[in-house]
Amino acid sequence: MIKFIDLQTQQLKIRSKVENRIKKILDHGQYILGPEINELQNKLSRFCNSKYVLCCSSGTDALLLSLLGLGVKPGEGILVPSFTFASSAEVVPLLGAIPIFVDVDKSSFNISTNSILEGIKSSKKHNINLKGIMTVGLFGQPCEMDEINKIAKNNNLWVLDDAAQSLGSTYKGVPVGNLAKVTATSFFPSKPLGCYGDGGAIFTNNKKIYEIAYSAHLHGMGKDRYTYERLGMNGRMDSIQAAILIEKLKIFNSELKLRSKVSKQYIKVFTELNTEINLPKLISNSTSNWAQFTIVLPQRVNRELLREKLSLKQIPTAIYYPIPLHKQKPYKNFPICCDGVKNTEFLCKNVISLPMHPYLTLEQITYICKNIHQLLN
Ligand SMILES: Cc1ncc(COP(=O)(O)O)c(C=O)c1O
Repeated sequence: MIKFIDLQTQQLKIRSKVENRIKKILDHGQYILGPEINELQNKLSRFCNSKYVLCCSSGTDALLLSLLGLGVKPGEGILVPSFTFASSAEVVPLLGAIPIFVDVDKSSFNISTNSILEGIKSSKKHNINLKGIMTVGLFGQPCEMDEINKIAKNNNLWVLDDAAQSLGSTYKGVPVGNLAKVTATSFFPSKPLGCYGDGGAIFTNNKKIYEIAYSAHLHGMGKDRYTYERLGMNGRMDSIQAAILIEKLKIFNSELKLRSKVSKQYIKVFTELNTEINLPKLISNSTSNWAQFTIVLPQRVNRELLREKLSLKQIPTAIYYPIPLHKQKPYKNFPICCDGVKNTEFLCKNVISLPMHPYLTLEQITYICKNIHQLLN
């Protein structure tokens, strides 16, 4: 059976080092806020070239802490793509703010600059005090950050990059983590850099944002433990997860190369077969961590039937995401940008994600491509 994500092979490579790290934590006993947290933060700071890194309890909490750091208030508006995981949007109304849903580009799957402009119009139409743009590096590749940062600057907005899926990627040579005012990521186990539980981090070069987020992740702690400056939460990462990530970070660059090789092989085999699908395309001057390898099927294809047939051939697949967020119960009363989110609706119906991990062999990739090709003909 081909694995959709292969964490087992990776674990075998680092198992003894992880065990040693965990043993050290069992010896020193600082399960929370142990020295591993600072060690990881320093390493991530170097990796992303970001001045401040705060490790925290999950990618969702990283988004929440980022919004707290940015000082988001009830009633304020934030542009969020509708084609993303729930977390990107859910943290906004959790703080009483308003997500305004915008569309994505059909080929990069990421927030489109045109739609951002429509979203700005929509906020004016609804009389919403727009404060920021949330970019999401969906399936791994970064958004068009130069253009987005420019629009943000011209409209006095901040940019929060939800890089839960895109840590390790670059845009014009700049690493994700240093492309927006604040970046939030997830270390959920299946992410390209994942721990063995929940974890996340925020990245910023802004001291004030970092300090507020730091305080907020410790219940709003002030100058000592039981003095509170603000409302906060328990947003800590535990020492064992940090230790695991330190070992995983050591092999991350080599795994990124393998992921890139796998994606190139997929593209080559599908292209040679001339399969009737849209292959993922990178925007110019960017690299992707290939968190997912997602293709777009022709509209005539019955996707569920195809998935069933592929499953019988031991090829697992996934649909990210079947229903746009703006159509889901908790979000359907929030505004959408002026010219609608047609690409999101199209992609939700037609995308399919294929097995993707650093240890996929060319033989497995060829087997997957050939089966999809045959089933489409
Ligand atoms: C785009 C996006 N944002 C946020 C998250 C939330 O991360 P976590 O599951 O660590 O809370 C995820 C996780 O899947 C994600 O894909």
